[in-house]
Amino acid sequence: MAGKLAGKVAIVTGAGSGQGAAITALFIEEGAKVVLADVNEAGMTEVTAHLPADSFRTVVCDVTQDDQVGAVVTTAVREFGGVDILGNIAGIGADFEPLPEVPLDRVTRQFDVNFLGPWLFMRHTIPVMIERGGGTIINIGSVFGLFGNRGNNGAYGASKAALMHLTTTVAGNYGGDNIRVNSIAPGRIDTPLARGRMDFARGDQERAADDPRLKRPSNNPLGRVGQPSEIATAALFLASEDSSYITGAIIPVDGGWVAAGGGPAGG
Ligand SMILES: NC(=O)c1ccc[n+]([C@@H]2O[C@H](COP(=O)([O-])OP(=O)(O)OC[C@H]3O[C@@H](n4cnc5c(N)ncnc54)[C@H](O)[C@@H]3O)[C@@H](O)[C@H]2O)c1
Repeated sequence: MAGKLAGKVAIVTGAGSGQGAAITALFIEEGAKVVLADVNEAGMTEVTAHLPADSFRTVVCDVTQDDQVGAVVTTAVREFGGVDILGNIAGIGADFEPLPEVPLDRVTRQFDVNFLGPWLFMRHTIPVMIERGGGTIINIGSVFGLFGNRGNNGAYGASKAALMHLTTTVAGNYGGDNIRVNSIAPGRIDTPLARGRMDFARGDQERAADDPRLKRPSNNPLGRVGQPSEIATAALFLASEDSSYITGAIIPVDGGWVAAGGGPAGG
């Protein structure tokens, strides 16, 4: 099949929803074989319902569990012959209790899912990529890892800052093996994660499952919330040869939120 990722094998975590689902669909459209990894089995079934059966495999995986992560990489090697692209997309959103009130296990869970998970996937994937002669890794960070996020307890942004820092370090260590490692820092993207958030923009404590404000203009320069497809096209750029001289980069895809100085009401 022709396409920017023809002949490539990708692992996409968090593929059962939102940005991971959009990335999976676009990678397959561009010719890749994709192993989807997510705790959300029903989501993966839905995402793959209309995809060609020979273009994907699904593995139920909690990214915080080393053996389950290893099983995803083993599946990619067994079924498709290796791994060229790793998309670390799975993540959990911010918690909004004041810092002194947040349960400790919620803080450690932020770091387990958002930092340790991608770390484990890199641990299992890098040797396979080296054997194959190179690869590309995309870690989804967040604008909240680039500036303070008034209104939440800080663990989410810190976990994403740690992941984006890890991105630069791994890029430095594995450029000689032809492995490129980059991060996307999304702004507010219209997915279940963002929709389920409390309204950090106003600092109120209501869940906002059907938040009409997601559809309203905001104060980021482009004046709107982003779509998962707009993260997928950035991920395709980083996964493909179009970005062949880019590694260790943190790329905001945020409607200009970071450029405009950040702040709580940017998305
Ligand atoms: N939506 C936003 O506004 C926004 C902004 C910045 C960054 N992000 C980041 O983008 C990434 C994708 O999120 P999304 O917006 O598509 O949200 P989403 O909730 O639609 O998708 C996240 C997916 O990750 C999966 N997941 C969660 N914990 C997991 C675990 N332990 N193991 C395996 N899978 C797990 C979920 O099941 C879900 O399918 C996340 O890392 C998130 O932190 C989102």
